[in-house]
Amino acid sequence: MKDTIIIKIDTENIDDKLIEKCAGILREGGTVVFPTETVYGLGADALNPEAVKKIFKAKGRPSNNPLIIHISKAENVLPLVEEIPEKAHGLMKEFWPGPLTLIFKKSEIVPRETSGGLSTVAIRIPNNSIAIKLIEEAGVPIAAPSANVSGKLSPTKAEHVMEDLMGKVDAIIVGGDCNIGIESTVLDMTAETPIILRPGTVTREMLERVLGESPINLSMENPNKVRGESDSPGTKHIHYLPDAKITVVQGDLDDIVAKINELRTEYEREDKKIGIICTDETKNRYEKNMNRNGGTLNRHGKNMGSVIIKSLGSRKYPETIAVNLFKVLREFDKTDAEIILCESVSDTGIGQAIMDRLEKVASTIVQQ
Ligand code: TXA
Ligand code: MG
Repeated sequence: MKDTIIIKIDTENIDDKLIEKCAGILREGGTVVFPTETVYGLGADALNPEAVKKIFKAKGRPSNNPLIIHISKAENVLPLVEEIPEKAHGLMKEFWPGPLTLIFKKSEIVPRETSGGLSTVAIRIPNNSIAIKLIEEAGVPIAAPSANVSGKLSPTKAEHVMEDLMGKVDAIIVGGDCNIGIESTVLDMTAETPIILRPGTVTREMLERVLGESPINLSMENPNKVRGESDSPGTKHIHYLPDAKITVVQGDLDDIVAKINELRTEYEREDKKIGIICTDETKNRYEKNMNRNGGTLNRHGKNMGSVIIKSLGSRKYPETIAVNLFKVLREFDKTDAEIILCESVSDTGIGQAIMDRLEKVASTIVQQ
């Protein structure tokens, strides 16, 4: 066990002394958790193999799952890569700093510990002032996966990080909640046509607008047929394992609600503890049904509260749903829910990234 230092930094008024302290830890080969706009990252000097090994150890992450390198300005890509493909320039200009990770052929200075043994390297500039100042002050590129124990959900709040990594890292910066809430889009630039390896809030449509061509969507294609230089290791490892079994229901909204209410009645008969993940538009349709579905009200008509209902936000604002998704799933880990029945969202725009994460947490997907 390490003594983990907790360092609170105010995003609005960043204390340079605290940044210097954290940067010093990174330069000396230590590990520092820091906020980014997507999720918290577990950082170490990307060019120091011993430092990078500490990341894998703290997370319990398989060593062949490569890390994203975080830099503070675009020109810092140059030493890390063999070349910048022509198509990448427009994307870097448009989306950096921001939630887009680009994969390039790596240069020799990137150790194989960081690239998981691949010949490619993933790079992004985070859009978070604490992260940028920290990387700048450290003076080295910072490798950082999401700051969760491997197999758990990515942390969107400092308290999530503490649940997972206290005693396992040198320092945790407490720097507010992440305002995007799901991980960056990962785009492989080493293929002839860029390939989306992980959808995020930089959507396929946004990439297409800048690229002038449609990127290949790995989640929609046969992953064995589509291959760039990188072997999309992120898709090989199991992600996200919440405590409860999650059933995601897809279809028209009315059918989703009907199916969830039907399944909930079945599970209530089996005396299972149930959770429902819904949206603002549908929340009262589950609450209302509490009268009709046996088990939720006692014979005096009093709510026994056996079903925990949580909304992800309004369907009109998919960004809000993205921000709340991991938070709500982690909240369920703190309850005794055994089964979670979860609504799907429309698979367009940011919805594609939300559905990608829901498919990763689901043990069953029901199509209505
Ligand atoms: O938003 C994010 O991307 C956050 C914040 C901290 O920046 N980071 C993050 O890192 O989500 P991580 O390690 O949890 O996810 C990185 C994903 C993994 O699925 C990994 O396999 C993939 O990117 N990846 C990294 N390098 C790669 C490479 N060279 N080729 C293919 N996939 C790569
Ligand atoms: Mg991760």
